[in-house]
Amino acid sequence: MAVYVGKAMASSHLVLSIEEELAKNPHSKVVPERFVRPVDHQDPPALLGALFPAIPTVDMKKLVSVETKDSETDKLKTTCMEWGLFQLVNHGVSSSLLEKLNQEIEEFFKLPLEEKMKFKVRPGDVEGYGTVVRSADQRLDWGDRVYMITNPIHRRKPYLFPQLPSSFRETMEAYLKELQKLAMTLLEHLGKALMIEMREMKEMFDDGMQSVRITYYPPCPQPEQVMGITPHSDATGITILHQVNGVEGLQLKKDGVWIPVNFHPDAFVVNVGDVLEILSNGLYNSVEHRVNVNTTKERISIALFFNPKFEAEIGPATTLLNPNKPPLFRRVGMEKYVKDFFSRRLNGKTYLEHMRIKTEGNSSA
Ligand code: OGA
Ligand code: NI
Repeated sequence: MAVYVGKAMASSHLVLSIEEELAKNPHSKVVPERFVRPVDHQDPPALLGALFPAIPTVDMKKLVSVETKDSETDKLKTTCMEWGLFQLVNHGVSSSLLEKLNQEIEEFFKLPLEEKMKFKVRPGDVEGYGTVVRSADQRLDWGDRVYMITNPIHRRKPYLFPQLPSSFRETMEAYLKELQKLAMTLLEHLGKALMIEMREMKEMFDDGMQSVRITYYPPCPQPEQVMGITPHSDATGITILHQVNGVEGLQLKKDGVWIPVNFHPDAFVVNVGDVLEILSNGLYNSVEHRVNVNTTKERISIALFFNPKFEAEIGPATTLLNPNKPPLFRRVGMEKYVKDFFSRRLNGKTYLEHMRIKTEGNSSA
């Protein structure tokens, strides 16, 4: 479980964009080697065709209306325990805002490469555009990403968010604000469903750390050879995902198989992250997921990550613990938790396992 080092690159800092790689050889029918996934014999099968179960739905309107909120909260709770992911319908974010956002994001990725590269990840950092190549033999995901911390405001890197084209920034600002409200409502209900004190949830998440990852997955000549994003769970409280151009590709791991996350075009996908699994002392399931790409269509997504504030300490909620229910995870300050996460390679649920308290008979971590 060591930090991935591989064959160290000379001290150079190489930031790669697939767009750049593809431009070198635009008609190639083969994927450049550094994107080819090694064969993983332990990888579970993927369900195909009509075999897969429908992704559960949670209705925001029902969650906040007096007559239906108890039953909908119950559904939210069981879904987050069993699936760790749901599609959120009737979320209340206007379609005009979403259309504007989609348009701005598409425009951003259409900018000339050198414009986007102005946002590239700087040495020693994790925020920005592109993929940092840490070692010569590293296998890279088939996606060009921009990752940024957006809250607290003073943590915004001056050369990232504030430098975005102004209409993109304004639209993003409106979207972040809407989704922050939505996330808080969901987190409050998620806490309430487990009888976690509202005060405890609010103290942690009010004005918490918020970050965003926008990903452009180009069409790929050999999609079965690559991965859009490597299997992982999110190191967050909750994540809210929006598929910008309606192209699907997200899959989740459930009961040992990969299931495609097909969802209603007007819905968001919400998933439980590691922090919420820790906070719920293992009751909620931080779902492992990945993205597959396809040969013909590009896919664009925007994921917003909602986290406790940097000053908070994360650990199982005190109200859930008693002598029969000991804590399953360690306590750690959010600042350190985030720092340690970024020092590791994205790899399944290994970071959550690293947080698990080792007991006899449970030494897998
Ligand atoms: C992520 C993620 C999924 C997607 O950014 O953590 O899982 O559909 N994205 O792009
Ligand atoms: Ni994710």
